[in-house]
Amino acid sequence: MQLILFWKFRGILNLMNALSKAFSLNYSAAKKTSIAECFLTYKESELIDANLPVLEKRSEIEAWNQAKTCAEKIRKSISDDVFNNLQKLRKSEIPALVIRGFQLPKKLPPTPIDGRISLEKISGPLEILLGIFDIFDATPVGYAGENEDCFIRHVVPSKLALEEVSSHGSLMPLNSHIDNPHLPIGVESCEEESPAPNYIGWLGLRCELDVPTSVVLLEDVLAILPSAVIDSLKKPIFEIYRPPSFGAGATNQRLAPILVPDHTGKLCTRHGFAEPTNSEASHALSLFSIAANSSDLTHQVILRPGDLLLINNQKCMHGRDVFQPRYDGTDRWLLRFYGVQNWRPQWMSSHQLPYLVKG
Ligand SMILES: [Fe+2]
Repeated sequence: MQLILFWKFRGILNLMNALSKAFSLNYSAAKKTSIAECFLTYKESELIDANLPVLEKRSEIEAWNQAKTCAEKIRKSISDDVFNNLQKLRKSEIPALVIRGFQLPKKLPPTPIDGRISLEKISGPLEILLGIFDIFDATPVGYAGENEDCFIRHVVPSKLALEEVSSHGSLMPLNSHIDNPHLPIGVESCEEESPAPNYIGWLGLRCELDVPTSVVLLEDVLAILPSAVIDSLKKPIFEIYRPPSFGAGATNQRLAPILVPDHTGKLCTRHGFAEPTNSEASHALSLFSIAANSSDLTHQVILRPGDLLLINNQKCMHGRDVFQPRYDGTDRWLLRFYGVQNWRPQWMSSHQLPYLVKG
């Protein structure tokens, strides 16, 4: 079965390469913009570990309320270089950032392949994510109806989701996409709806050296697309679907463009769960997908334990290749947060929990 899947997706890749040639995308003009990277010194990571408060976390809301305290402790321990890069991410001056070298607890529990674990067992890693998100003014959120209404997500290969196209899957590839593209992006109104995540953060707890997180920067994709295609992608001629992470029966959510400007006029994307509604949309979406899944433009980011990858979810796409889980307690395990800018109370879902917004 796995072999069949492997060949099936190799076939799709070959087809995409052939289409790419047929449409003559100019990869010679492609530049793969590098992703900003910071390395914590031994002293910095020691200081962060020593200063983190190790607060009791009996619930997600208790953890969420500790963000400011964690941020104060981490800010005192990190260099201006790390801090300034986080501010560049906040101001959209960079689309992604890797900070390497956080210290993790000496004894991590086995990878929770059912996606559940008591918060006390991952208190330190949680505090790192809570504090770093707060330092660049990102509020951690979950989306009602997804991830069991939690904001803390364990990216692990779940036995129940082997062939699921989600962060709990493993045998199906995750092609380039943004998360929750059915929600507003860029300058689209967020009066009635909560926005798609502005940021995603993944902290590596256990790593597989041959299972990187792939990241494609929108600016690199736009650099090789013909301007007429970009114009088509700005039109509301695409049906955008709620992703399968919200469960079966995902419905058409909106007719919308794939590219939307932000407040500075630079473009954001909602690529990943769209269907074209006419031939113009079909042509434009095909070319965008080819470029967004091209190895020429893909950064393969390996997260070792203690490494943190932060991306602007509306300016970068991400994905993952297939892999075979072992279920021996040592499988790949990333701790994931979504973050929004300028959190508003009206985004709260009927649960009336500040971290759980409408999905
Ligand atoms: Fe995703």
